[in-house]
Amino acid sequence: MITKDQVLSALSTVIDPDLQKDLVTLGMIEDVEIEGNTVSFKLVLTTPACPLRAQLERDARRAVQVMTGAQEVKILTTSRVNNPKQVEISNNQFKHVIAVGSGKGGVGKSTVAANLAVSLAQDGASVGLLDADIYGPNIPRMLGLSGTPQAENGTKVTPLTAYGVQVVSIGFFVADGQPLIWRGPMLHSAIQQFLTDFDWGCLDYLIVDLPPGTGDVQLSLSQTLPISGAIVVTTPQAVSIDDAFRAVSMFDKLEIPVLGIVENMAYLRLPDGSQMPVFGEGGGKRLEDLTGVPLLGSIPLEPEVGVDGDRGTPAVIASPLNPAAEAFRLIARNIAAETSKQAHLAKD
Ligand SMILES: Nc1ncnc2c1ncn2[C@@H]1O[C@H](COP(=O)(O)OP(=O)(O)O)[C@@H](O)[C@H]1O
Ligand SMILES: [Mg+2]
Repeated sequence: MITKDQVLSALSTVIDPDLQKDLVTLGMIEDVEIEGNTVSFKLVLTTPACPLRAQLERDARRAVQVMTGAQEVKILTTSRVNNPKQVEISNNQFKHVIAVGSGKGGVGKSTVAANLAVSLAQDGASVGLLDADIYGPNIPRMLGLSGTPQAENGTKVTPLTAYGVQVVSIGFFVADGQPLIWRGPMLHSAIQQFLTDFDWGCLDYLIVDLPPGTGDVQLSLSQTLPISGAIVVTTPQAVSIDDAFRAVSMFDKLEIPVLGIVENMAYLRLPDGSQMPVFGEGGGKRLEDLTGVPLLGSIPLEPEVGVDGDRGTPAVIASPLNPAAEAFRLIARNIAAETSKQAHLAKD
């Protein structure tokens, strides 16, 4: 006869490699049930986009089989995103606010932000995307959105939705093609209103597309938004790496943890299957060595990514088999794992 204690002690030998503790101590095991030789339980992950899902399921199943002799192990995998530092602003709850920054414009920051947000939503997370790039609010076009969000029942404004992501863009509120020349206080209050006057509900992840650079605007935005972690997008080019380094330093000064570096346009696939490093090689790795911030992944330069963005359907939706889409999914999961680590550290 298998006992619940046997099951739990088997599962307490399985270590989550990211959080460095066992599944039982981490509170990831619930509802253990035993019926004859069949053991079932819930595995509660810290994010639906967990890159270790398959590995944890396999290790848990094996441990229970080997240590209790169970013939069948049924695992129901779910998730609960938690962060002791989650932000609550007028009935909105943001568990993780992740800023996407870059030293330079044109490195693919918005493309990365849009694909990451959609990818996390596809994995089952509740996701918002705030386009705070006053220089080039491109998110509406990239997600095929137009129009201005409306207040329902005269109260809060409902974000627009695309591919399962709630979206608010500074671009919704300016006439097409008009430059934005807001500064200081105006920008500050606009951003604050995006958090307070909109009905975001409870979000696992709010992704913020910041303007490129490290000037006053970026500083004031970073101080207005309750950012819990940042990622920095760069191409492998030396000039882009230099500017990305400045972006990492800016977040450091603001005491915003940099979750990782994303290297975009890393290489072009040639018809013969070889890779052409259009913008040079190893830039992301060099920045990782220089800053100690992990390189979360490299995205190839793929014509489809640009075409999909222009058409309003991100590559992870329109071209899911493209290697760039695979890279976006992997990076999204790596970011989710990094935020789980940060949240876990904050708890101790
Ligand atoms: N991996 C990629 N492959 C091909 N084109 C890309 C890739 N990433 C971005 N682009 C294209 O490069 C241009 C700049 O990207 P964008 O996301 O607008 O950059 P940023 O927000 O940093 O200014 C866009 O036309 C976009 O479609
Ligand atoms: Mg942009």
